[in-house]
Amino acid sequence: MNYQTLRRLGLAAIAAASTFAHAQDYPNKAITVVVPFAAGGPTDTVARLVAQSMTTNLKQQVIVENVGGAGGTLGAGRVARAAGDGYTLLLHHIGHSTAPSLYRKLAFDPIGDFEPIGLVADVPMTLIAKQALPPKDMKELLPYLKANKEKVLYAHAGVGSASHLCGLLFMSTIQVDMTTVPFGGTGPAMTSMLGGEVDLMCDQTTNTTGQIKGGKVKAYAVTTKTPVPSLKELPTMADSGLPGFEVAVWHGLYAPKGTPKPVLDKLTAALQTALKDPNVIARLAELGTEPVAQNRATPDALRTHLKTEIDKWSPVIKKAGVYAD
Ligand code: MLT
Repeated sequence: MNYQTLRRLGLAAIAAASTFAHAQDYPNKAITVVVPFAAGGPTDTVARLVAQSMTTNLKQQVIVENVGGAGGTLGAGRVARAAGDGYTLLLHHIGHSTAPSLYRKLAFDPIGDFEPIGLVADVPMTLIAKQALPPKDMKELLPYLKANKEKVLYAHAGVGSASHLCGLLFMSTIQVDMTTVPFGGTGPAMTSMLGGEVDLMCDQTTNTTGQIKGGKVKAYAVTTKTPVPSLKELPTMADSGLPGFEVAVWHGLYAPKGTPKPVLDKLTAALQTALKDPNVIARLAELGTEPVAQNRATPDALRTHLKTEIDKWSPVIKKAGVYAD
């Protein structure tokens, strides 16, 4: 065996040993989970629940950092450029699959620049309005929107966000173009709605359940195929004159490309443990959702789902001719 081959083998052995050593004592410092939307919104809520549980089972602080803007692409770009050492993660939702169609100058590849860790939860959406909006139900809302069109202010969290996509689908289904108002997340959008500054929004139950039950906003329908148990008084959009209307917001946890497999394995195990945590299950149930089944909290399940969703949304967005840049 010549010197070059020996040298290559030696270097490979050193690299493998250092990866193994890195993984052995991983995590030995705090882990940051980037949420690509403002604090106080639905993605933030899911992330903080999971992070709190992972802190316990990893015995290291797992902290959430909110990096809002551009429909989630600023935060996702931050993680795409982070070191692949397992200390910077991304918790994102369906928006990670629509970004490549909506942003023609996207600064990252949603598949190629990330390592999937696992799916987290599918969250229903609700169509809600400020209390002062006159329609009391969907039967009154649809004619009201047709009569008022662009006078109605529809809030969302930026092009490509779940609230934006739900709004796109809703407006194209009823053939009404409202005036859209973007925010850094539906947390601040909700604050604006509670102040009566915006009229309508489609947002996830993880952000709207408390306001609906507290009578702070009007709620018209849920976007799932079947009613949401914790909001059983609300009809589905499909049963409210919009057959086939269905949106559920899936969430996934990712690491940057190049994160060593032993580290990814530890993170997948920690995610799966968090999704079996009775506190996480109970809180998500109160908020109208539940953790994914354990066999979906895996890298392969997330990798497959992300690819399927990118392929599904690409023609829909291209047909709608909606681009963010
Ligand atoms: C949020 O967390 O603010 C929402 O997920 C934003 C959105 O996608 O509507």
